[in-house]
Amino acid sequence: MASGDRSTIIKFLYLLLEKNRSSPYKQKVLGFIFYFCFWKVTEERDILYYLFMKFIIMKKYLLLLRNKISFFLLTYLTALVVIALGISILDNIKEFPEFSIQSTPPNSDTSVTPLPSSAEENLPLLPPVASQKQFNSEEEYKQFSQTSNTPPKVETYLGHFPYSENKQENLVKVADFYGREEFLDKTAANAFNRMKSDAKTSGVDITIISGFRSIAQQKKLFLKQINKRGGKEAAARFSAPPGYSEHHTGYALDIGEGQNIDTYIKFEFEYTEAYLWLVKNAHKYGFELSFPKNNLQGVSYEPWHWRFVGSQKAQDIFRMARMKQ
Ligand code: DAL
Ligand code: ZN
Repeated sequence: MASGDRSTIIKFLYLLLEKNRSSPYKQKVLGFIFYFCFWKVTEERDILYYLFMKFIIMKKYLLLLRNKISFFLLTYLTALVVIALGISILDNIKEFPEFSIQSTPPNSDTSVTPLPSSAEENLPLLPPVASQKQFNSEEEYKQFSQTSNTPPKVETYLGHFPYSENKQENLVKVADFYGREEFLDKTAANAFNRMKSDAKTSGVDITIISGFRSIAQQKKLFLKQINKRGGKEAAARFSAPPGYSEHHTGYALDIGEGQNIDTYIKFEFEYTEAYLWLVKNAHKYGFELSFPKNNLQGVSYEPWHWRFVGSQKAQDIFRMARMKQ
């Protein structure tokens, strides 16, 4: 949403608050919504606007019914709207666990400065260099790599390598994570399913939290991270800019331990049975940790983020990143 639209909404909310000055009750409700929206959901402005309009429409009906229903019923309905608004926002945040669940890393800069106004415009929508040509199958890739002499040109952005989005037809559903479907490239999915099943036999429950991500999804996440960390450089330590995430390839995934949600996307994951099992066994299935402690890419340690390098194509995609470990 453009900053002009945003200020229009803010103005609109202020006007509404002004208009309802004579009714302390209404003003309280509107003030709460105003505060809640801009305190918690600066990144959810589109949803906020939609929900807010819904609230206004509902309010109109409530006012029509005012004479018929009791004050308490009015309070109750208003509370319901506010709760629905909260739930929708939380649902939206949950859509991207990498950003909502992550705990504050030790020794990191926790100060949150406002989103620089130019940050949104400066984000690259696409990588400046398309380093990976997309292939429909391993066979097609093998043919290409045998005939092409052109070495891929790779330029990093804020320490991250560019990755192309994998094609839809190469992706298969691996699991649902809180109602969200998770996809991986077929080859990586097969290896992951085998690994999961063997881990289960050993009494360890490994679960996929986040697999393939589009560039559009990553853009949302990165903007959230900028907002949280105060700038692109700081954000890039925890999240890749759009066009630069390993998740675009369908070969990378975030892993958690069963229902142990307290350790999802947190450093504490490294103390779980699942992590210890992965360290010992993941390589047998072609998986490796992408961002170990003190990696040369300068990305924060991510014990949950693994990439598949068990095929020639996957190894080529991550060739530059692997050299930087
Ligand atoms: N969290 C890793 C760096 C990503 O966003 O791809
Ligand atoms: Zn990840």
